[in-house]
Amino acid sequence: MKIVLAYSGGLDTSVLLKRLILEGHEVVAMTLDLGESDAMAGDGARAALEAVRAKALALGAYDAVLIDARDRFVNEYAFAALRANALYQGVYPLSAALSRPLIADLLVKTAHEYGATVVAHGCTGKGNDQVRMEVAVRALDPELICRAPLRENPLSRPDAIAFAREHGVPVPHTTEKPYSIDANLWGRSIEAGVLEDPWCAPPEDAFAWTAAGAARPALPEEVAIAFTADEPAAAGARGVALVAALNALAGKHGVGRIDLIEDRVVGLKSREVYECPAAIVLIAAHRALERLVLTRDELRFKALADQRYAELIYDGLWMQPLRGGLEAFNASFAPRMSGEVRVRLHQGNAVVTGSRSPCSLYQQRLATYGAGDAFDHGAAAGFIALHGLPLEACARAAGERVSA
Ligand code: ARG
Repeated sequence: MKIVLAYSGGLDTSVLLKRLILEGHEVVAMTLDLGESDAMAGDGARAALEAVRAKALALGAYDAVLIDARDRFVNEYAFAALRANALYQGVYPLSAALSRPLIADLLVKTAHEYGATVVAHGCTGKGNDQVRMEVAVRALDPELICRAPLRENPLSRPDAIAFAREHGVPVPHTTEKPYSIDANLWGRSIEAGVLEDPWCAPPEDAFAWTAAGAARPALPEEVAIAFTADEPAAAGARGVALVAALNALAGKHGVGRIDLIEDRVVGLKSREVYECPAAIVLIAAHRALERLVLTRDELRFKALADQRYAELIYDGLWMQPLRGGLEAFNASFAPRMSGEVRVRLHQGNAVVTGSRSPCSLYQQRLATYGAGDAFDHGAAAGFIALHGLPLEACARAAGERVSA
């Protein structure tokens, strides 16, 4: 059978690749560039991914494809989430969650190209990612069979290493894997190992993108994020280049560390640590611009819609039609979402220190406590009388009950 396998090049998916080949399948290994090392390695990243492709072929893959999915990931997935200020449980920018429907989309496309009837991935049975990928594959092509061999047949670390040694699969020098890592341009997630104890503070070795306290610059640095029709830019950089540059800049100041006891789709709680410098800066800036240009009612309602959007993405429901509806709602603000937000980066914090926009609804003559106040103070008394009327009725009714 012809199978397209989502292939990262790590030990697990390499063992998986070999196992499927030994079962007699023609396996197409699909590797994606989602920019996970752009902030750190720059040009070296491409060479490392080419090596992953070569490794798959060396292991006997029928074919191996490397797809640069960075532009699509940032523009179609991460920036859609940015317009929803999407933070799961109020803090996690959904970096891993946003990549899964794109991986699924490309698995399906690759399967169609190669005439494969099966797609496979290396997720285990207790995570969110299996749900996200398989739900998306089913929504895209219900005829495709989705296999999760590591769920069907869990593989312990020692067994994986023994299998690898026996079948000529390269084993990494450090077989001791302190954490499980997933990364792309929108963030890096770190789980397992000592982090499984929720009382244990995340050790410094968990972090790769964000500087530790002592290594952070002593002085703050400011970055101006400019939005044009809800499209962010900074110092002329947009899209992938913007996100990569902000990961480096904000990461240097230790911005974007998140430590979350998280509610997984499959029902359990897990401890997840993230570093998402660019996402945190961009979401802070985006929210600040919204506060300036949207009405109070829009902001109140959008906060509810935004939370729902984040939950849909987390829960693996990218293909749910409601997402399109919420994105159309978010797109309706674009004509007013132009302006500039200044963010100060310092010692792990990203703080908005200024915002301005041609579409600003802020009117200094109404807000001022200084000269030129145009606010009608007299109107406030009548407003209060009516605004508080229902509560006055409650108080009078309670009083009557007591005296009755
Ligand atoms: N818990 C996160 C999520 O569900 C991240 C999972 C990514 N995988 C990993 N091996 N860290 O979105």
